[in-house]
Amino acid sequence: MAERSTTRRRIVVGVGGGIAAYKVCSVIRHFTEAGHDVRVIPTRAALKFVGAATFEALSGNPVTTEVFDDVDEVAHVALGRQADLVVIAPATADLMARAAAGRADDLLTATLLTARCPVLFVPAMHTEMWEHPATVENVATLRRHGATVAVPASGRLTGADTGAGRLPEPTEIGLLGDLLLARPDALPHDLGGVRMLISAGGTREALDPVRYLGNHSSGKQGYALARAAAQRGAQVTLVAGAVDEPGEPAAVEVVRIASARELQEQMIRRAAEADVVIMAAAVADFRPVSVAGAKIKKGESGPAPIELDTNPDILAGLVAGRTAGEIPERTVIVGFAAETGDEHGGVLDHGRAKLRRKGCDLLVVNAVGDGRAFGTEDNTGWLLAADGTEIGLPYGSKTLMASRILDEVASLVPNGEGGRSGEV
Ligand code: CTP
Repeated sequence: MAERSTTRRRIVVGVGGGIAAYKVCSVIRHFTEAGHDVRVIPTRAALKFVGAATFEALSGNPVTTEVFDDVDEVAHVALGRQADLVVIAPATADLMARAAAGRADDLLTATLLTARCPVLFVPAMHTEMWEHPATVENVATLRRHGATVAVPASGRLTGADTGAGRLPEPTEIGLLGDLLLARPDALPHDLGGVRMLISAGGTREALDPVRYLGNHSSGKQGYALARAAAQRGAQVTLVAGAVDEPGEPAAVEVVRIASARELQEQMIRRAAEADVVIMAAAVADFRPVSVAGAKIKKGESGPAPIELDTNPDILAGLVAGRTAGEIPERTVIVGFAAETGDEHGGVLDHGRAKLRRKGCDLLVVNAVGDGRAFGTEDNTGWLLAADGTEIGLPYGSKTLMASRILDEVASLVPNGEGGRSGEV
């Protein structure tokens, strides 16, 4: 469920005529539950999939498709001008073609011409249609015009076929919309061609076949990074441990691991092929020396002590691998630090020391404890760079934080399409 927002914003949800139109009902809900004023504008074709009554009931507002309905209100001008965000989902090939050409042959396309707020197109169509040069050009045109065109998911499409073109999950569409509301320029298409390897979640160190040592990591920050990077055009592999996430981000390859050593194996092997490596996972520093083959019984003598061994420091190992030439020198390596202040220094002091110790290019420092960071939706902290630059990360959603981290990453990626003006 969406968190109730402190400010009520006006959101136009444009619905194209595709089978995925039914999924948009959850997106409308996401925004109304956050307290926003939602106006739904379906195309004529969209109403063949979902009736106007459903959209009216969900948004609590009237629904029209034509410019000539309610002419006295000049709806296409009013709705577009007043909107703080327009989300088009599913954005069909036809709808994007009409929008790219600047047509105004229904209320939705006319509204798009008058909107000056962030516009998010979320495409859904068959793979052939998505890959057709006409669609590719229309997507590029829309991005040049300042719109964000989401990268669709891969997977099961209508009928028996699978491939790129699936509508991302409604939760993800909601998060991307929230991000654009918080920061209209958060999703430039500037990471095209950049290969990104991201770890997320907590590791689990087995004690016996049913028990493990774990931690509170939810994986939310790593998932937010993977989601935002993929939407900025990067080719993302996410190596995920235990997470508390409802689904997988669109257009991201997800590899599952359990223990720190499994994570290490995946990261070392894949880092050689990556331009950017981000260690957002919460890695257990220790593991039981031995894993019992059968469930440990309570016994009569009470609990037996657990003997622990130290796990490898994966981040430090990646930096060492780069120094040794096993990972290309140009690979950007980013670490995370979850810190609490103590008698030896504050959160930032510990962060600075950790950056020096780990030798990575960027370190994201989070203050933890008292319910902060772990499992929460919001986050705050600092971004420390090896060259001494220190950037404060203002309090906000983990998705917003991810977008700020990626800005810095984009500026460090050599030969990428990095930089805020990058385009497809
Ligand atoms: N990390 C890692 N391998 C480990 C432990 C941590 O790669 N065995 C990575 C984390 O993914 C994170 C960074 O190192 O990017 C810092 O993790 P953190 O737990 O804050 O630091 P530690 O090295 O464990 O140091 P300490 O617990 O002493 O603060």
